[in-house]
Amino acid sequence: MIQLSGISKSYGEGQVLNHISLQVKEGEILSIIGPSGSGKTTLLNIMSGVLEATHGQVISEASQIGYVFQEDRLVPWLTTEENIRFVAESIESERLSYLIKTMGLQGAEDKRPDEMSGGMRQRASIARAFAYEPDLLLMDEPFKSIDYYLKGKIINALIQVWVERMSTVVFVTHDVEEAIMLADRIIVLGRKPAVILNEIKIQSPRNVDEEAFLKIKKEITNCWEEIK
Ligand SMILES: Nc1ncnc2c1ncn2[C@@H]1O[C@H](COP(=O)(O)OP(=O)(O)OP(=O)(O)O)[C@@H](O)[C@H]1O
Ligand SMILES: [Mg+2]
Repeated sequence: MIQLSGISKSYGEGQVLNHISLQVKEGEILSIIGPSGSGKTTLLNIMSGVLEATHGQVISEASQIGYVFQEDRLVPWLTTEENIRFVAESIESERLSYLIKTMGLQGAEDKRPDEMSGGMRQRASIARAFAYEPDLLLMDEPFKSIDYYLKGKIINALIQVWVERMSTVVFVTHDVEEAIMLADRIIVLGRKPAVILNEIKIQSPRNVDEEAFLKIKKEITNCWEEIK
């Protein structure tokens, strides 16, 4: 679906990404995990095409890209429902209600972003991205400002919606547990200028038992210990 070859990115003198090569297969959920400031948002922006790499090549087959930004970019004067319709004009009412319900936003259909909490806005952004029916969905820390219990529910909802439509998903996080709960594969970035430190393929994606969970978690944190 998308292939990055030898991507490097510098902002002026400061190099952020150093020769990143990766491939995302159709229907796959890939998590990119890395410390704060390692260049995760930069990498997503390059994948989406809004930012150009300094070196390297992006080959993308995506025709419809959904993007859940790190800071929600809901239209401030529109309600939740209107924000969703804004990107998906012809969405059926039934589908709209389903997305609102799955994201736990019942009762907030007619609220504007400034009337909602950060977590609600984040969930509205996720609902909006799904309504757009992207073939490639990019999400930048989509579960931040969502509390632990609700996060589990939202991740399950996301899996449910993903199973129905099988979009290709790339999501960025610095939360190891989120990555393990959702991904088929995890790419671990180091500190700036980021290289790929490790790539972990999950044996039973979205169904990881406790033992495997701890093992993967250790593998990821060990990568960062080594570069401290
Ligand atoms: N437009 C820009 N101009 C100059 N430097 C930038 C720009 N955008 C990002 N950077 C720098 O590039 C580095 C990586 O930023 P980026 O936002 O990609 O990191 P991140 O991994 O997404 O961080 P976080 O986890 O905090 O969101 C940071 O040091 C940041 O200051
Ligand atoms: Mg970021």
